[in-house]
Amino acid sequence: MPDRFFQKGKIIMKLHIAVLAGDGIGPEISKVGVDVMEAVCRKFNHEVTFTPALCGAAAIDAVGDPFPEETFEICRQADAVLFSAVGDPKYDNNPAAKVRPEQGLLAMRKKLGLFANIRPVQTFDCLVHKSPLKEELVRGADFVCIRELTGGMYFGAKKEGDDEAFDTCAYTRPEVERILKVAFEYAMRRRRHLTVVDKANVLASSRLWRKVAQEMAPNYPEVTTDYMYVDNAAMRMIQEPRFFDVMVTENTFGDILTDEGSCITGSMGLLPSASTGESTPVFEPIHGSWPQAKGKNIANPLAQVLSVAMLFEYFNLMDEAALVRRIVDKSLDENVRTPEIQVEGGGVYGTKEVGAWLVEQIEAC
Ligand code: IPM
Ligand code: MG
Repeated sequence: MPDRFFQKGKIIMKLHIAVLAGDGIGPEISKVGVDVMEAVCRKFNHEVTFTPALCGAAAIDAVGDPFPEETFEICRQADAVLFSAVGDPKYDNNPAAKVRPEQGLLAMRKKLGLFANIRPVQTFDCLVHKSPLKEELVRGADFVCIRELTGGMYFGAKKEGDDEAFDTCAYTRPEVERILKVAFEYAMRRRRHLTVVDKANVLASSRLWRKVAQEMAPNYPEVTTDYMYVDNAAMRMIQEPRFFDVMVTENTFGDILTDEGSCITGSMGLLPSASTGESTPVFEPIHGSWPQAKGKNIANPLAQVLSVAMLFEYFNLMDEAALVRRIVDKSLDENVRTPEIQVEGGGVYGTKEVGAWLVEQIEAC
């Protein structure tokens, strides 16, 4: 926990933030996140320091490692990591590449023990028309996907030969228990409905998940727990997104379902996430590095800004988080929007302009 002290009855924090801007649009949205966080901290008298560190393709280019030891040390010593995005097309179509930017992200998750990835799927009333789904289906959808982040196929035994290749989906009981505990506790703080998503009709690892969940469920009698196969869950999310409150699932299923979830809201540029576990928590947008938009000042910084709100909430700084969310809502209401969500005839705002507007509003209130 960061240092804290009281001043005139208010908690004042000293926050050390590691800033991993990464690749593509990462540096542009990172700057907005940092500026907004700084403005809110100024308003509430918190002391905040930002330490930039290399990751992803930027780190491969500079030092040949997508998550260098020095970056790990900076993250380990920080109170939180504000992460943006990694990925570069020069690696995407090159199966022979020895190192990839994404390995930096996976190394960060593993080394910081970030086993719980919290991805809220929330709709904004003024944007439901942007959803590819019917407005009446989407309006009011509000659920959280809790994705296991350090196990499963991403990290299981692998073989990559010319004639045979495999990835293993392996889970141990303690790994399943700790993520389910996070999920049950989340459900307790929300509408008390937990959906455990698996493929227990086929996969042994899923049957372990289901068995452990069934053992734990009686400890949370207020929570309605149901079990759903992942293929069915993918369908239900489209047919009736309001069915879900909290869903919990293994790493790969969670990766796929959260991209699907992000479409429900209408823009991927609006969804933040938090990854927590054994060491420093990480706050990041769920979208990727969008290399085609790099340097064009068109990327939506709101997912990054909302990840700052999640950061404040993690440290129980609820007024600070509420201010960030209020200002984001206001920017949408007043059509201060990046091109992909701008209404016809609306003003032209780039990443920087949206950022400057948010900071101005925070200072003015
Ligand atoms: C995500 C991303 C990553 C993942 C990639 C970039 C490795 O898709 O955070 O969802 O697959 O976990
Ligand atoms: Mg993904």
